[in-house]
Amino acid sequence: MMLPNFSVSSLVFFLLISASWAHTRTPPSIQDNLTKCLSKYSQTSVPFSQAFFTPNTSTFTTVLESSAQNLRYLVPSMPKPEFIFTPVHDSHVQAAVICSKKLQIHLRVRSGGHDYEGLSYVSQIETPFIVVDLAKLRSVNVDIKNNAAWIQAGATIGEVYYRVAEKSKTHGFPAGLCTSLGVGGHITGGAYGSMMRKYGLAADNAIDARIVDVKGKILDRKAMGEDLFWAIRGGGGASFGIILWWKIKLVPVPATVTVFAVAKTLETGATKLLHRWQQVAPVIDEDLFIRVFIQLANGTKTGSKTVTTVYQAQFLGGADRLVHVMQKSFPELGVTRKDCTETSWIKAVLFIAGYPSGTPTEVLLQGKSTGKNYFKAKSDFVQNPIPETGLQGLWKRLLQEASPLMILTPYGGMMSKISESAIPFPHRGVLFKIQYVSGWQEGDKTEAKHMNWIRKLYSYMAPYVTMSPRQAYVNYKDLDLGINKKSNTSFIEASSWGYRYFKDNFNRLVKIKTKVDPNNFFRHEQSIPPLPKRGHH
Ligand SMILES: Cc1cc2nc3c(=O)[nH]c(=O)nc-3n(C[C@H](O)[C@H](O)[C@H](O)COP(=O)(O)OP(=O)(O)OC[C@H]3O[C@@H](n4cnc5c(N)ncnc54)[C@H](O)[C@@H]3O)c2cc1C
Ligand SMILES: *[C@@H]1O[C@H](CO)[C@@H](O)[C@H](O)[C@H]1NC(C)=O
Ligand SMILES: *[C@@H]1O[C@H](CO)[C@@H](O)[C@H](O)[C@H]1NC(C)=O
Ligand SMILES: *[C@@H]1O[C@H](CO)[C@@H](O)[C@H](O)[C@H]1NC(C)=O
Ligand SMILES: *[C@@H]1O[C@H](CO)[C@@H](O)[C@H](O)[C@H]1NC(C)=O
Repeated sequence: MMLPNFSVSSLVFFLLISASWAHTRTPPSIQDNLTKCLSKYSQTSVPFSQAFFTPNTSTFTTVLESSAQNLRYLVPSMPKPEFIFTPVHDSHVQAAVICSKKLQIHLRVRSGGHDYEGLSYVSQIETPFIVVDLAKLRSVNVDIKNNAAWIQAGATIGEVYYRVAEKSKTHGFPAGLCTSLGVGGHITGGAYGSMMRKYGLAADNAIDARIVDVKGKILDRKAMGEDLFWAIRGGGGASFGIILWWKIKLVPVPATVTVFAVAKTLETGATKLLHRWQQVAPVIDEDLFIRVFIQLANGTKTGSKTVTTVYQAQFLGGADRLVHVMQKSFPELGVTRKDCTETSWIKAVLFIAGYPSGTPTEVLLQGKSTGKNYFKAKSDFVQNPIPETGLQGLWKRLLQEASPLMILTPYGGMMSKISESAIPFPHRGVLFKIQYVSGWQEGDKTEAKHMNWIRKLYSYMAPYVTMSPRQAYVNYKDLDLGINKKSNTSFIEASSWGYRYFKDNFNRLVKIKTKVDPNNFFRHEQSIPPLPKRGHH
């Protein structure tokens, strides 16, 4: 009895559907249109049917979350892409640019997913948007004979370090300390690390690139010209094109590198010592990089808290020379031979990144981050040592927060020898950089409290840091500094954060942007705006 009934109704249903198709055809969805367009414009026979992820597929969330580092941008209330595309060939990226323009769908590009404000996978200013995730484009081709390597945007910096070290114990590359950073977004924002005082930034050591421009063409350094090549070395991600490859210059590292980590709490003289560090760390031997982590720790009385300062160092040389340098320039820290560990450059990379000692270097090939949390961060640059009274006020504020973190990174050495306009990254003549972080694990419930705390801390620090402009590091994106509200944000709006990230280089970045992408195709909350087109009179 049921069966015929069912068949009849299905038949009716089928006829109805066919009829509606025949007359008013369901219009193809954005996803259908994109898939079709991408297939049409990809000039390669490399198939990519596995490269599309729409929200109704089970793998969509896995892919979206894969490399996203800030959980704050994965909560349900955050906008989600209409479509994720994971190219497996350079020409797929060209097709993505052409099709997103043709179909007028906003495009976000992601390499390592470490953007502080989730700009590579969330757009808060326009819908719909798609994400082009370069995670499958991760070749690293090292050419030791020529001290160079071509590295693809989706590779992590840890993979690059591993592949270099695999070929030579005496070559390295001066980029980030966290090994899961994607080289696509990282290097285009400057990229500093433990060899910056000796060799400068990764962007200072980028010698060529291949990018997809707004027309979908692939350009190398010669084809793009020196203006655009200048802009992508520090001008920040996703304003000028999509970087497919960087060519980097490798630098010499000694076979023996030495590391140490020494902690001091408030009770053991942290304040005086940090005051001293500010004067010493930026002028000490260029082979030596001593950064400071400031966090909370348990106090001596049960239940009490104190502030701890951990001095984490990397020295390009052996322990005997390091101890000599420390005794001569920074005896206050009390570093002795037994605090020092001699190792190789690649193992020092793991130490600095925070891997437990003994972790095999192959962990770098997994391209995974060591942990994710909900976080908000901000940055500052310091030109004059913060007085002890300033530090005491800082301790008071840190003790009010659950899980605060500050990282102080010394400048000087090569950093101050390169001119402010050599590349867009302008922060050269400072003593050190501060990064403030508040991290938490409870989702968005406690977010407002942490955001409020870090913003208050930032105002407290104003008298002690650079001003006019108060500088900030573009790779530590901070949307508190202002956002582009629409696709044609004015120069005036963008200058609120533009001068902080780039000082006067912002003007040149805007000029280059106006030339290479006048319609502002490559855009996000803090992308470089083009100047408005001149009206016709
Ligand atoms: C845990 C952690 C540690 C960090 N440590 C350091 C450090 O030691 N040194 C340092 O300098 N910085 C550090 N950073 C900051 C880091 O350099 C930036 O977040 C950088 O932008 C990350 O690049 P990505 O490719 O991983 O990020 P993504 O989120 O993929 O991209 C960042 C931005 O660049 C754009 N972009 C991505 N790929 C491309 C591409 N191929 N072409 C053009 N634009 C692109 C994105 O759209 C986005 O706007 C750290 C960040 C985190 C979260
Ligand atoms: C897809 O393309 C077709 C044909 O050009 C068009 O009619 C339709 O509106 C498009 N769909 C969307 C969601 O843009
Ligand atoms: C998911 O949605 C897209 C676009 O709406 C459609 O083309 C596709 O067939 C759907 N896939 C599944 C598994 O439902
Ligand atoms: C600090 O003390 C708490 C208990 O008060 C304990 O759970 C925690 O493990 C301690 N942390 C450290 C780093 O010793
Ligand atoms: C920019 O936006 C404003 C309004 O928001 C509009 O009047 C203007 O025409 C736009 N300019 C361009 C170049 O699109």
